[in-house]
Amino acid sequence: MAATRLLLLAFLLLLLQAIAAASSDAAHLLAARSVLRDPTGALAGWGAGSGRGLPCRWARVSCANNSAAAVAGLDLSKLSLGDGFPAALCSLRSLEHLDLSANEFVGPLPACLAALPVLAHLNLAGNSFSGEVPPEWGAGFRSLLVLNLVQNLLSGEFPAFLANLTGLQEFSLAYNLFSPSPLPMKIGDLADLRVLFVANCSLNGTIPASIGKLKNLVNLDLSRNSIHGEIPRSIGNLSSLEQIELFANQLSGSIPVGFGGLKRLHSLDFSMNGLTGDIPEDMFAAPSLASVHMYQNNLSGHLPATLGTAQSLYDLRIFANQLSGPLPPEFGKNCPLMFLDTSDNGLSGPIPATLCASGKLKQLMLLDNEFEGAIPVELGQCRTLIRVRLSSNRLSGPVPLEFWGLPGVYLLELSGNALSGTVDPAIAGAKNLSKLLLQDNRFTGALPAKLGTLTNLQEFKASNNCFSGSLPPSLANLSLLDNLDLSHNSFSGEIPRDFGKLKQLSQLYLSDNHLSGDVPSELGDIIGMNTLDLSNNELSGQLPVQLQNLKLTHFNISYNKLSGTLPVLFNGLQYQESFLGNPGLCHGFCQSNGDPDAKGHNTIKLIVYIFIAAAIILLIGLAWFGYKCRLHKINASELDDGKSSWVLTSYHRVDFSERDIVNSLDESNVIGQGGAGKVYKAVVGPEGEAMAVKKLWPVGVASKRIDSFEAEVATLSKVRHRNIVKLACSITNTVCRLLVYEYMPNGSLGDMLHSAKRSILDWPMRYKIAVNAAEGLSYLHHDCEPPIVHRDVKSNNILLDAEYGAKVADFGVAKTIGDGPATMSVIAGSCGYIAPEYAYSLHVTEKSDIYSFGVVILELVTGMKPMAPEIGEMDLVTWVSANIAQNGLESVLDHTLSEAEQFKDEMCKVLKIALLCVLNIPKSRPPMRAVVKMLLEVKEENKPMLKLAPLSI
Ligand SMILES: *[C@@H]1O[C@H](CO)[C@@H](O)[C@H](O)[C@H]1NC(C)=O
Ligand SMILES: *[C@@H]1O[C@H](CO)[C@@H](O)[C@H](O)[C@H]1NC(C)=O
Ligand SMILES: *[C@@H]1O[C@H](CO)[C@@H](O)[C@H](O)[C@H]1NC(C)=O
Ligand SMILES: *[C@@H]1O[C@H](CO)[C@@H](O)[C@H](O)[C@H]1NC(C)=O
Ligand SMILES: *[C@@H]1O[C@H](CO)[C@@H](O)[C@H](O)[C@H]1NC(C)=O
Repeated sequence: MAATRLLLLAFLLLLLQAIAAASSDAAHLLAARSVLRDPTGALAGWGAGSGRGLPCRWARVSCANNSAAAVAGLDLSKLSLGDGFPAALCSLRSLEHLDLSANEFVGPLPACLAALPVLAHLNLAGNSFSGEVPPEWGAGFRSLLVLNLVQNLLSGEFPAFLANLTGLQEFSLAYNLFSPSPLPMKIGDLADLRVLFVANCSLNGTIPASIGKLKNLVNLDLSRNSIHGEIPRSIGNLSSLEQIELFANQLSGSIPVGFGGLKRLHSLDFSMNGLTGDIPEDMFAAPSLASVHMYQNNLSGHLPATLGTAQSLYDLRIFANQLSGPLPPEFGKNCPLMFLDTSDNGLSGPIPATLCASGKLKQLMLLDNEFEGAIPVELGQCRTLIRVRLSSNRLSGPVPLEFWGLPGVYLLELSGNALSGTVDPAIAGAKNLSKLLLQDNRFTGALPAKLGTLTNLQEFKASNNCFSGSLPPSLANLSLLDNLDLSHNSFSGEIPRDFGKLKQLSQLYLSDNHLSGDVPSELGDIIGMNTLDLSNNELSGQLPVQLQNLKLTHFNISYNKLSGTLPVLFNGLQYQESFLGNPGLCHGFCQSNGDPDAKGHNTIKLIVYIFIAAAIILLIGLAWFGYKCRLHKINASELDDGKSSWVLTSYHRVDFSERDIVNSLDESNVIGQGGAGKVYKAVVGPEGEAMAVKKLWPVGVASKRIDSFEAEVATLSKVRHRNIVKLACSITNTVCRLLVYEYMPNGSLGDMLHSAKRSILDWPMRYKIAVNAAEGLSYLHHDCEPPIVHRDVKSNNILLDAEYGAKVADFGVAKTIGDGPATMSVIAGSCGYIAPEYAYSLHVTEKSDIYSFGVVILELVTGMKPMAPEIGEMDLVTWVSANIAQNGLESVLDHTLSEAEQFKDEMCKVLKIALLCVLNIPKSRPPMRAVVKMLLEVKEENKPMLKLAPLSI
């Protein structure tokens, strides 16, 4: 009986104790709430209603299963609670789980928490706790498993003493404001650690090798610190690892072998470090590896073969390294590839056809490499693609038809390759297309009218191709179009008036085409336009006054055939270079025919008019004088770069100084303009000798493509021949580079032959020009050591001296064979002159020059341009072959030549030589030496009219 009583008493005591605990925990919670800022009233229900004394039923409070009343869990996350940590919470002696994350707590971390005997899970992440982590924490927390202080404002040294908490499974201190300090060595002693998350903790020093002891580690994140040294080999021992983030540190050395053995590894990020050496062979052998980022390092060597057999990889970013060699041939066949970025490396070989084999590829970025061959037809089936960047490689051949029309693609960037063929009308399927970048390729044909259906298009660049035909008026339907660049092509016909409907257009480049007709006044309706370049076309008529509505920061309509008076607003200084080369255009005063009524009224009026006119002329004279001075100053300052001195390097004896040349660079002396720069005529020296000065575009402005100074000087200075334009000297300072050549008074063969002056060139002259140019080229190919390939032979690069003798000019893209690989990433040549082998290979030989020279002879014999509207969409070679096949040799001879009948035989013989030069197969074209011999024999059979001097050096 007594025993039963005793038992009952004990039970009662226990119950009382529990109730006391419960009621005291309730009191602690209420005390805590009383100091909390609770803007949403989330805790307002505590202590109210039926469960008053029993906190286990209160919102966000939980109790241990066995003692029905003591508070074991408190989850107050994401309630916008604020102010300091409520110290009363340290009195909840049974607390196991405390979560205050994502609130607005401020002030120091409470030292008292470390004394809670059973606290296992502490989450204070996402608040504004500040100050140092209390040192007491290193000695308490006997049962802590999870410590999460991520994203607070904690400062002071990194709390190395927390490594004393050997039971920890999660150690998350990332994104705080600690002062620079190393990761504690003792971190390797936390044997149960599963998560080590210390990103952006200002860690310096190295990664301790002891980290390899953390056999249970699943997630290792040391990113965004200043950790240096090598990645310890021991990391390969972390067999539980799923994720490793080491990006944005200062790691160096090579990546250790061993990651391939990590069976669970899913993602890995070593980006933005200074890692060097090869990617280890086993890297992609880890069977679960899905995401690999190693961009922005100095990794080199070939990609490991394991990349081809990776099973889970869907995201690979290795851009901005120095990797070389090919992608594995079957890459994409074995893995669900979705995102691939290998940009800015030296990778070569073909684009694997299997990249989209699993039907998941969305983003394909291979720009700035040396990939070659065609775009695989298989990619045309890849309907998941949304972003495609293949620019600046060596891709060639036509673009697969279906590739044009992929429905999801919003960016299609193919610029800077050697792609050929046409833009297929299938492009109408690319409904999402917003940027279409095709510039610097070998595309031909007309633009399809279907382009006008791509209503999302904002940027369309196709400059530097061989597009021809007229501009499709349907482009005017592209209501979002902001930038249209079709310059440097062979477009002809008029600028469609409807272009005025392109209301969003801010930049329009149509320069260097064969556009004719008026400048549409409707262009003045595009109010937001700031750049308009129509230079180097054949536009005629008056400049429409409506263009004055535009606020143009760049306006160039030079080298056209405009006439009439310039609208007054365009007389400003900022337009001084906008209208060069339009001889029919008058600035301010045009000779008018006068108004018949005004004539002969009275002499006083006339005298008044004369006075006014004289005054105006005087004013203009003064203004012009001032303008000239200013221009001179502008030029001088632009060229001078302060007092930096000019360096003159002469290759022949010169009797002028660098000053003489520099001072004569006046806009009124411009005689031409090309891809590499402007050409001025300068009259210098005691004899008043004329020189041609080529001023190369400043390095900053010019792309690599046209920055030809070094190439030209290196080549030309070695070359001495009577049929090669003589380079007298080069003049450079830090900002400006000038090349001074002998002046060729009769300009280029192209200008002469394709203008009104063509009648000057009778057949004997044309024949002499052909022989001279052939000898010049033959010298380059056969007598230079190493041989020189010109790479841009065309009639505009054959210049004529006073006696119409011809000299080969413009070695901007010449490159000596044997000086490095003969293939080059930069494609040279001009529309209509490019040998067919360019379409499938960038391997350049003398044979390509011979083809281009054949085209020049065809121009001489037929009088036709290499690409011209008269011969339709064809180039001259195709047109000549087609006509000869139908109507015989004589049908293509230039019938405007008065003596055509007399020289018919000779012309036919020369024509046959040209046809040999333009044979499709490079090997079957005769060498230049043989071309010279054949050309000479044409004459010797008849009467030897021309005595040709032997080659001279
Ligand atoms: C209470 O018991 C359940 C299962 O009965 C368990 O899932 C839960 O984790 C226990 N809660 C605590 C705080 O021990
Ligand atoms: C960490 O533990 C060591 C003993 O293992 C002890 O000497 C040291 O005082 C502890 N650090 C702190 C900050 O309590
Ligand atoms: C880390 O930074 C601190 C403070 O700037 C400096 O004293 C210490 O030498 C650095 N340690 C290393 C290994 O760079
Ligand atoms: C760390 O985060 C701060 C802002 O919280 C930022 O300014 C800093 O650049 C980051 N450090 C690194 C290495 O990313
Ligand atoms: C990996 O662990 C094994 C044994 O567990 C050990 O012998 C080896 O040295 C470790 N490797 C590294 C690189 O730490």
